[in-house]
Amino acid sequence: MDGAAIIEELLTSEGRADPYPLYARAHALGAAVPAGPDTFLVVGHTAADKVLRTPAFAVATADMMAELTPEFAEHPSMALFGRSILQRNAPDHPRVRSLIASVFTARRVAALRPAVEAAVAGLLDEMAKQGADGSPVDFMDAFAFRLPVGVICELLGVPERDRYRFRDLASDLTVALEFIDDRSELTKADQAADELAGYFTELAAERLARPQDDLVTDLARIAADDPERLPARELLANLVLLLVAGFETTTNLLGNGLALLFRHPEAAAGLRSGAITPAGFTDEVLRFDSPVQLTSRVALAEGLAVDGLPVPVGNVALLLLGAANHDPARYDRPEVFDPTRRDSQPLSFGGGPHYCLGAQLARLEAEVAVPALLDRFPRLAQGGVPVRRDRLVLRGFETLPVIVR
Ligand code: HEM
Repeated sequence: MDGAAIIEELLTSEGRADPYPLYARAHALGAAVPAGPDTFLVVGHTAADKVLRTPAFAVATADMMAELTPEFAEHPSMALFGRSILQRNAPDHPRVRSLIASVFTARRVAALRPAVEAAVAGLLDEMAKQGADGSPVDFMDAFAFRLPVGVICELLGVPERDRYRFRDLASDLTVALEFIDDRSELTKADQAADELAGYFTELAAERLARPQDDLVTDLARIAADDPERLPARELLANLVLLLVAGFETTTNLLGNGLALLFRHPEAAAGLRSGAITPAGFTDEVLRFDSPVQLTSRVALAEGLAVDGLPVPVGNVALLLLGAANHDPARYDRPEVFDPTRRDSQPLSFGGGPHYCLGAQLARLEAEVAVPALLDRFPRLAQGGVPVRRDRLVLRGFETLPVIVR
C-alpha cells in the first residue's frame, strides 16, 4: 500500500472509524511519504514538528485556495475561516494573533478554574438527575458538549440564553475544515457561517455600547479603536474561530478520554488512587486518540525537504498528527495507552506559529472534569454502544451512553 492508497482508505468510513492501522502502515513507509501528485503525508513525529515550525511551510490561505478552485472563494464558510488566523500567514497572522493573545492570556484562563469547577459540578448534578432511574445518559450531549461551550461562551461573553444554538451551528460550520468532495456539503456550513457572523456583529456592537469583562468587549474595542490593526471582518472571523475551535475539539477530548477510561479500568483506578495524575491522563488521551487528527501546509520556498524527501514549491504536506502521536520512533509501544508516560509532547495542539491558542484552557477543562466525574459516580459504567462521528479531521463521538451511579 503506498501513500496515495493510505489517504484513499483514510477517507472511507472504515478508515475514519479506526485510522490507526493505516497510520502503522504509513510509518512502515517512512516519516514522509509521497501520496499522489503534489501531495505527501508526514507521519513522523520529528518530521511533522519540524514542518509545523518551518515558516516556508505555510498554511493555505483563502487566496491560494481561490487560485486552485475559484468556486471555493464564494463560499461564506470558507471565506470566514480564510479571514481567521487559522488560515493566515505572516505578516497578517502575527499581527492578529498577538492581539488575540494579548486578551486571551494565561492569567485569564487560570482565573477561570473556579468557574470551570462550578460548571462541572452543575453538569454532574444534571447527569445524576437524568440517570437517577438507571437509564443511560448520553455523556456527549449532557456533559462533553456543554462544558466547553459554557466555558468558551463565558470567556467570550456570550449570554447563556444563546448558547444552545451553537452545537449544530459549529458542527455544520466545521464541515468546511474536512475533505470535501462535493461542494453541496457546504450549504449548511455556509448558512452557519452567515448566522454566526451576524450573531457576533450584533454582540460586538452591544459590547461596545455596554462594555463587560470579556473577550468580545476587548477585541471589539481594539477593532473600533484601530481598524487597520483589526478590521471588522477579521474581528468577526476570529470571534467565530474562537467559538468553534474552543468546543468541538474539547468536546472530543472529553469523549475520547471517557471512552478510554471504560476500556482501561486500571487508568480509572489509578486516577482515583492518585497513582495517575489528571495532567498525565489528559496528555495520554491527547496522544493516543487526538481530537484533531490532521492539518496541512503548503511549500512556499525552493529547496525544501522533509526527512530527505525533496519538496517542490506548491506541494501540500498532509500532517497526520494522530499518526505522529503513534510514531514508533518517538514512543515506546505507541499502541499501548499508558497515562504514566513522561515527556510525551503529543502534536495534538499543533506546533510553531499556529500552536493552539486554547491548549491551556482545554487541558484545564479535562483536568477538572475527569477526576470530578470519577469522584461523583464511583461506579460509572458504559450504558450502550458508543457511536463515532464519521469524520477524519475532528475525531470524536456522536453519542457515548453512560449509566451514572
Ligand atoms: C483538545 C482541545 C483542542 C485541540 C486538540 C486543539 C487543536 C488545535 C490545533 C492542532 C491547532 C493548529 C492547527 C494548525 O496548525 O493548522 C489549533 C489552533 C487553534 N486553536 Fe485549538 N485545539 C483545542 C482547543 C482549543 C480551545 C479550547 C481554543 C479556545 C478558544 C482553541 C483555539 C484555537 C485557535 C484560536 C487556533 C488558531 C491558532 C493560530 O492559527 O494561530 N483551541 N488548535
